[in-house]
Amino acid sequence: MKHTLVIRDLTLKHRQRTLVDRAELTLRAGQVHALVGASGSGKSLTSLGILDLLPPGVHSSGATLLLDGQVVDAAQLRGREVALVLQNPRSAFNPVRSLRQHALETLQTRDLHGAEAEQLIQSTLQEVGLHDAQRVLDSFAFQLSGGMLQRMMIALALLADSRFLLADEPTSDLDVVAQARFLDLLERLVAQRNLGVLLITHDMGVVARCADQVSVMAHGRIVEQADVHRLFNSPQSQEARTLLAAHHSLTMESCAP
Ligand SMILES: Nc1ncnc2c1ncn2[C@@H]1O[C@H](COP(=O)(O)OP(=O)(O)O)[C@@H](O)[C@H]1O
Ligand SMILES: [Mg+2]
Repeated sequence: MKHTLVIRDLTLKHRQRTLVDRAELTLRAGQVHALVGASGSGKSLTSLGILDLLPPGVHSSGATLLLDGQVVDAAQLRGREVALVLQNPRSAFNPVRSLRQHALETLQTRDLHGAEAEQLIQSTLQEVGLHDAQRVLDSFAFQLSGGMLQRMMIALALLADSRFLLADEPTSDLDVVAQARFLDLLERLVAQRNLGVLLITHDMGVVARCADQVSVMAHGRIVEQADVHRLFNSPQSQEARTLLAAHHSLTMESCAP
């Protein structure tokens, strides 16, 4: 079955100021939907707004969420159907709990315990490329690199059996090698696990490589939605053209002798 998550009419405000204006997004299983736009355009708030994990003072005026056509609320999606992968993964972990405790807690929500839980944790860590599983599980977040914590966030999403991932600039704090490996992993999980991903990025190289659909955001509004080929071949909005021009000038520079 082709799972879909539709977000309709997501409006976020801080006092009288509209930060996100009637955003609409559709995520599909087995596809990557990239959300791009200049810094401050509302990308992070959009992902937080979907799960109703907004910072203090920012309010949502009731978006409609449809999971496979059924209206759901954010609390039903959080940590279950939909997992969040943050740019700064350290902040997502409880500093006084080992990663094993995080993994076990996630499985408790699925009523999995004991040897069964331990086995699933081992195989999931292997799946996301954390091969030294025992050491990782005995560690606390501050003892691991950003790239490893990123993988652990994905592992927790898989342990929660999430079908959708919202990934906010997941590669921007990683070095190029870790970035490429992370994107390899993401692509593999989309293909093999049929995950649906919202990938927030400002890197059009990442979009070209991974995305199926693209939404372009500017000043809190989605100003263009297209499949990746159409966006690169005939961008309609000024914002998309600006992002592509910046990308092309960077690639030309790095290719220059
Ligand atoms: N906690 C907050 N309180 C008030 N305004 C905020 C808050 N967080 C972000 N904003 C504002 O909302 C807009 C969108 O922010 P954000 O979603 O973080 O942008 P992006 O992720 O695209 O860089 C920005 O103008 C930012 O200043
Ligand atoms: Mg952001």
